[in-house]
Amino acid sequence: MNKKTIRDIDLKGKKVFVRCDFNVPMDENQNITDNTRIVAALPTIKYLLDQNCKIILASHLGRPKGEFKKEYSLAPVAKELSKLLGKEVIMAKDVIGEDAMKKASELKGGEILLLENVRFHKEETENDPEFSKKLASMAEIYVNDAFGTAHRAHSSTVGIASYLPAVAGFLIEKELKFLGNAINNPERPFMAILGGAKVSDKIGVIDSLLEKVDTLMIGGGMAYTFFKAQGYEVGNSICELDKLDLAKNLMEKAKQKNVKLMLPVDTNVGKDYKPDTESKIVKWTEIPEGWEGFDIGPETIKLFSEELQKAKTVVWNGPVGLFEFPQFAVGTNSIAKVLSELDATTIIGGGDSAAAVKKAGLEDKMTHISTGGGASLEFLEGKKLPGIECLLDK
Ligand code: 3PG
Repeated sequence: MNKKTIRDIDLKGKKVFVRCDFNVPMDENQNITDNTRIVAALPTIKYLLDQNCKIILASHLGRPKGEFKKEYSLAPVAKELSKLLGKEVIMAKDVIGEDAMKKASELKGGEILLLENVRFHKEETENDPEFSKKLASMAEIYVNDAFGTAHRAHSSTVGIASYLPAVAGFLIEKELKFLGNAINNPERPFMAILGGAKVSDKIGVIDSLLEKVDTLMIGGGMAYTFFKAQGYEVGNSICELDKLDLAKNLMEKAKQKNVKLMLPVDTNVGKDYKPDTESKIVKWTEIPEGWEGFDIGPETIKLFSEELQKAKTVVWNGPVGLFEFPQFAVGTNSIAKVLSELDATTIIGGGDSAAAVKKAGLEDKMTHISTGGGASLEFLEGKKLPGIECLLDK
């Protein structure tokens, strides 16, 4: 990595502003249902504690659109963090208000303060210079460890870096190491599995991966646009009619680049968008009218699994079916299981594929599960992430 990290500067006793991504899922009673992102921030926080830093943590949670909303409060995160660290985390009542400013100024070495949700101010997402300056005024050093938000140019991820020496935390360093190595220096054969609903969300990443991989497997709702582009009927399956030419171009590009592009050969179709809907397996060329494709079928699972046995590096982004409904989770769970048993580097892009791997209890069997959904996708697309670009060069 060509950016400075917390190892590269003197932090002893300093007041440090750390941007984390504590955007964690919660149930309706604000209980955290998956603390992965909080656990992932611990190595940086512990290192700063060892340096006797005065630590100010900041994050967003959800998209409260510039207003205080109790359900978006970070208070449950402060509690969870206290539990994980075995030490008090002081919670501020606001972000740049009287309470936060007072608590930040009174902070002693080895103490931790968590600010309220930075998105309670609309200036955060506007990357407003005055707001950025105010955040910066609390500390002497800025650390970005919010990999999951590194694709957003906001005040607490980018703006603040104009006013303080800015370095990366260990989570950003780790994510760049695994994702960067997989993309730029993969052991071959290098394969990618892409799923998710829409081609339009994944054009950039398909296009960029076609330059790098040996095999690209496509599943999920996206596959039906590729079927339609070849002239087949897709029933009620999700299909982007305005992306048919694009799908054809991507198939053509795969041929030119000598990439083995694998599409499903069969699909599990359902009558309605309901967990217990009637379903059946059909060939990809024979999707009946009035039915909707919700998962890859058993023949596809077999073909994808056989191909994956040869892989030395695999990147997976996006579930290959409607995995929220158990009867359509078979494809996604099978892919997760196959990856967990491979003798290969396995990198799971964040978001839904990470959730699927965790749901299957296979997270310890993967080489790396990214904490970034959108951020890992943009990284795989080859885009520069503003929250990393703004940090000091080595
Ligand atoms: C995420 O969950 O992908 C990140 O926390 C970014 O959230 P956002 O899409 O609301 O910016």
